[in-house]
Amino acid sequence: MIKLDNVSKAFGNGASGLFDVTLAVEKGEFVFLVGHTGSGKTTLFRLLIRDMLPSKGTIMVGDFDVVKLPHQKISHLRKKIGVVFQDLKLLFDRTIFENVILPLELSGEKTLEAKKKVEDLLFQVGIIEQRNKFPIQLSGGELQRAAIARALILSPDILLADEPTGNLDPQTSKDIVKLLLDINEKGTTVIMATHNVDVVNKLTKRVVALDKGKIIRDEKKGKYGVS
Ligand SMILES: Nc1ncnc2c1ncn2[C@@H]1O[C@H](COP(=O)(O)OP(=O)(O)OP(=O)(O)O)[C@@H](O)[C@H]1O
Ligand SMILES: [Mg+2]
Repeated sequence: MIKLDNVSKAFGNGASGLFDVTLAVEKGEFVFLVGHTGSGKTTLFRLLIRDMLPSKGTIMVGDFDVVKLPHQKISHLRKKIGVVFQDLKLLFDRTIFENVILPLELSGEKTLEAKKKVEDLLFQVGIIEQRNKFPIQLSGGELQRAAIARALILSPDILLADEPTGNLDPQTSKDIVKLLLDINEKGTTVIMATHNVDVVNKLTKRVVALDKGKIIRDEKKGKYGVS
């Protein structure tokens, strides 16, 4: 489903975003991506959605050869991958409902069906009652749920969640991770970048650890490791 071969991303400033990363993630897997700040987690996500190109290597996402993908097909790739961005990227002048429906509107879905989809999804992620509020009126946990809903609205095969429990209390973090596990149970491949030692250690899922842009560990039933 996702395959990176010898992928490097160098930034002009000497920071090695990623170095010689080879990684395969199968359909339906749940993977924790861990590593210190600056280790390359967000860079990896950005490469997967063709937000930037690698300096070297090949990236396959399903049938998409991401590096060679012509510009007009980038939107097709991005429909397959939902992203919960580290900074959420919710639009602050739109309500939660309007934020979540936006990808459907852009892809031309009929209004009635789109509305129903959004309602169902907001219910699933537990913020249906917040639907007419603006992002500024929501708590951190509710905002994460809104960002997760928006990431799922086009029914992607893959969900990338970038530090979705950052700044949340332990209980809310647990609830968010439970939501991601439920989504994974329904068949979506999930990669969650995180610093959350407790969550990773409790779940014993696959753990891929990055350090200064390199994969230093990949364990099927892993722990966070030395932090
Ligand atoms: N656009 C950019 N231009 C230059 N350097 C960058 C750019 N994006 C990332 N980097 C550098 O690449 C390295 C990896 O950054 P990245 O954001 O992938 O780390 P991260 O693992 O997501 O960190 P965090 O846990 O803090 O989110 C860092 O040294 C960062 O400064
Ligand atoms: Mg990051």
